[in-house]
Amino acid sequence: MGVKLTFVGHATWLIEGSKTVLIDPFITSNPQAQEAGITLDSLLDKVDLVVITHGHFDHIENALDFGRKGTPIVGLFEVAQYLAANGAKNTVGCNIGGWFEVEGVKMVYTPAVHSSSLIKDNGEPIYLGNPAGVVIDLDGVRVYHTGDTALFGDMKLIGELYRPDVMLTPIGSLFTMGIPEAVKAVEFVKPKIAIPMHYNTWPPIAQNPEEFKKAVEENPCVDAQVIIVKPGESVEINL
Ligand code: NI
Ligand code: MN
Repeated sequence: MGVKLTFVGHATWLIEGSKTVLIDPFITSNPQAQEAGITLDSLLDKVDLVVITHGHFDHIENALDFGRKGTPIVGLFEVAQYLAANGAKNTVGCNIGGWFEVEGVKMVYTPAVHSSSLIKDNGEPIYLGNPAGVVIDLDGVRVYHTGDTALFGDMKLIGELYRPDVMLTPIGSLFTMGIPEAVKAVEFVKPKIAIPMHYNTWPPIAQNPEEFKKAVEENPCVDAQVIIVKPGESVEINL
């Protein structure tokens, strides 16, 4: 069983297997996607399903571009309602809880310690429900995108229950876990492969991913392999 994971940049990932899944579509204003030469047009027609972790701009910027052309979008109830009210034709609202399947892709939403809103031009936030992470099972490969999150102890439960093969973890600090927290998160979840994200997009979240890799590899409680994937690069996950 194998899937191909492509890092679009920031927290945006493409998973390609029997279906093509795009997580957290942030492309147009994503400096890492721009640098990698990944355009919205190159993705619009190939994505079967869009999966969203939470409502922040850097996770849903391009959701409506997919939604208005009919690509199914899964998100927490409030995010799904918001997108549907703004022209998305096929949304599936869910919540943190148990496994379900959309378009042949199995997934389960998990907690995340963060926030979830869109800020209007006048500075008022639009409430968009809870933040979340998601475990996606595509062709038997389980990918845990933690969403934007702080470290929390129940990541142990997520590891125990869902046994992710791959963990996509933020290391940027400021808005999410930094490197020390992410190292502990990998220890809690125990994936086979950990891949850092949500860093170096802008100067305030500058981090050296090699420090994360070294710290995970030196942690005697973990035997996860850390793969640093650059924006625009892909990694084949074969189990
Ligand atoms: Ni966020
Ligand atoms: Mn974010």
